[in-house]
Amino acid sequence: MTAIRDPRMLRDILSFYADAGADEALEEEARDHLSRPQSEDPLERAAPAPAPRRAAEPAPPRPAPPAAVPDEAQAARARALAREAGSIEELKAILADFDGCNLKHTAKNLVFADGNPEAELMLVGEAPGREEDLQGLPFVGRSGKLLDRMLAAIGRDRSSAYISNVIPWRPPGNRDPSPLETEICRPFIERHIELVRPRVLVTLGNPSTKLLLNTREGIMRLRGTWAVHTTAGGQQIPTMPTLHPAYLLRNPAHKKLAWRDFLAIRIKLEE
Ligand code: URA
Repeated sequence: MTAIRDPRMLRDILSFYADAGADEALEEEARDHLSRPQSEDPLERAAPAPAPRRAAEPAPPRPAPPAAVPDEAQAARARALAREAGSIEELKAILADFDGCNLKHTAKNLVFADGNPEAELMLVGEAPGREEDLQGLPFVGRSGKLLDRMLAAIGRDRSSAYISNVIPWRPPGNRDPSPLETEICRPFIERHIELVRPRVLVTLGNPSTKLLLNTREGIMRLRGTWAVHTTAGGQQIPTMPTLHPAYLLRNPAHKKLAWRDFLAIRIKLEE
């Protein structure tokens, strides 16, 4: 195998793998899976290669995948379980036990929430990425750093804001969660908001805005205008849809729009 020495080429290849979802090194040393294993014993090494397996030989049994099949029954179960949670801690324990969403089986950690559950301000993003999955906390990667700066701009930090996501497990390779996965996770985030009872809710980006405001309208039309999230119990929570920090990292010219939205949030919290 030829070693790649150009650091730029190496970086490009690694980011290609990361984008494709292969973001973990399984072993310290790269292994050539195409070569025949070399024995330590010189006699064995000199021996001819073993004859290929006969076609009739049965293949060794594969372990069954642990993932549950996401279906409507799981969504119904999620709705019933979420209703049972009487506190934020209970909801977290129920989610930690719930195995009806395939995403749980590929994620390393449950990413439940961060910040102060007593805060008046709650922000909801889409789904954890790699860094969040590793740490079990929302918004701790690059977009999280930007979110922290956006909060600081209105005089807040994670002790005066509460942060969660629609989806509490990282989708493999950061793919979009499927509609069914989102439907299975929906009751949990809705109950989460209901238990936190924030005075102001902020939806970050398209998926959480569409889900929590029950709309098909895009974020570019909705951002900057107050809307209402209505909980199952009938609480009406003023909600500001705004641009997702990951989007702002890719489109820095739009930071001024998010800045306007955050000013409106600050004014609302001062009322
Ligand atoms: N993007 C999200 O929507 N949530 C996170 O926790 C991190 C990145």
